[in-house]
Amino acid sequence: MARIAVTDGMAAAAISMLEREGHEVVLAHYETEALADGVLSDFDAVVVRSATKLTDEVISASCGESSGLQLIGRAGVGVDNIDLSTATNNGVLVCNTPGSSTQSVVELTIGHLLASVRHIPAGTQSLRAGEWRKSELRGTELSGKRLGFIGFGRIAQGVGRVAIALGMELHAYDPYLKAHVARDLNCQLHSSVDEVFRRCTHITVHCNLSDETHHLINTKRIGLMTGRGADGIECGNHLVNCARGGIVDEQAVLEALETGQLASAALDVFENEPATADNHLLQHSSFHGTPHIGAATYEAQARIGFEMAELLIDFFAGRTPKSVVNRDVL
Ligand code: MLT
Repeated sequence: MARIAVTDGMAAAAISMLEREGHEVVLAHYETEALADGVLSDFDAVVVRSATKLTDEVISASCGESSGLQLIGRAGVGVDNIDLSTATNNGVLVCNTPGSSTQSVVELTIGHLLASVRHIPAGTQSLRAGEWRKSELRGTELSGKRLGFIGFGRIAQGVGRVAIALGMELHAYDPYLKAHVARDLNCQLHSSVDEVFRRCTHITVHCNLSDETHHLINTKRIGLMTGRGADGIECGNHLVNCARGGIVDEQAVLEALETGQLASAALDVFENEPATADNHLLQHSSFHGTPHIGAATYEAQARIGFEMAELLIDFFAGRTPKSVVNRDVL
C-alpha cells in the first residue's frame, strides 16, 4: 500500500477514501529547504495544490533508484508549479483534476465582472465609511457589451454561456481551439490577441501561464481598447484574470487604471503570491481582487478530492489514472 503526502490540504472525504483502500495519508506542509533536501523521497506519491512548488531540484531529490515518488497529483488544473520535464525524466507520473473546479471559476469570473461594472467593492467601502455615494456609483450593464476571451477552454466556455444569457457578444483568441466549438457558442474567433482587445471593452483571461503568455496583457494591448460598448455606451474598459498570475503585467494595469484607460481591473491571481500590501495595484480604488480562490468552494474541493483519490487508487491498483499530464511516462 502507498504512502501519500498531502502538502496543501485535501477534502476529508477524499482522505478517508484513500485510507479505506489501505493507503497511508500524511498531511503536512513542508518548507522549501525540506523539499529540496528530499523529504518527499519517503513517499510513493505527493498531492499538491498551487502553494507547494515542485521544482527540478525538489523532484530530483524526491526520486531514488528503487524508491521515492512515483506519482505527483495536482489537486486542481494548472501544473505550472511542477517541473514536468524533470518529473517525466525521472519516470514520475503527473496527474491533475481538470474539470472539477470549472463551475466555481466560472462563477467567480462572472462575480468579478459584475462587481466591476456595478462598483460593488467601492459601494461597500463607501457604506463602511459612513458615506452614501449613490450618484457617483452609476455603473453600466454587461448586456450589449463585447466580452473578449484570451483562451477559450472549458472555463471560458462556461463564462461564455452565462455572458450570452446576460446579453453580451463573445470574442476570443485561442490558437488551440477547434473553430466549431466557438461557432456553437456564438463566439467570434480572432487570429490575434490584439484584435480581441481592439473589439472588446471587457476582457477575461483563461489561458495557461507559459513563456509565450507571460505579460501577454500589457500596456500596448490595453491601449487598443476603445471603452465604447457595442451598444454605443461609454462603458470604459474592464479586465478580469482568474487564470494565472504573470499573464497580466500588473504594473501596466496599475498605470492604465491611473490614466483611466482601464475603468476597472479585478484579479484573483497575482504574479507573486501571496500578494502583499507592497503591490501598489492592490491600493488603487478601481482595483478589486481575491486571494486565488477560484477553486475554493466546498463543491469544487469535494469534487477535486474525490477525483484525486480515484486517480491515486487506480494508479496504485495498477490501472491507468484518468487524467495524466505527462503521458510519455506511461
Ligand atoms: C487551479 O489551477 O486548479 C486553480 O488555480 C486552483 C489552485 O491552484 O489552487
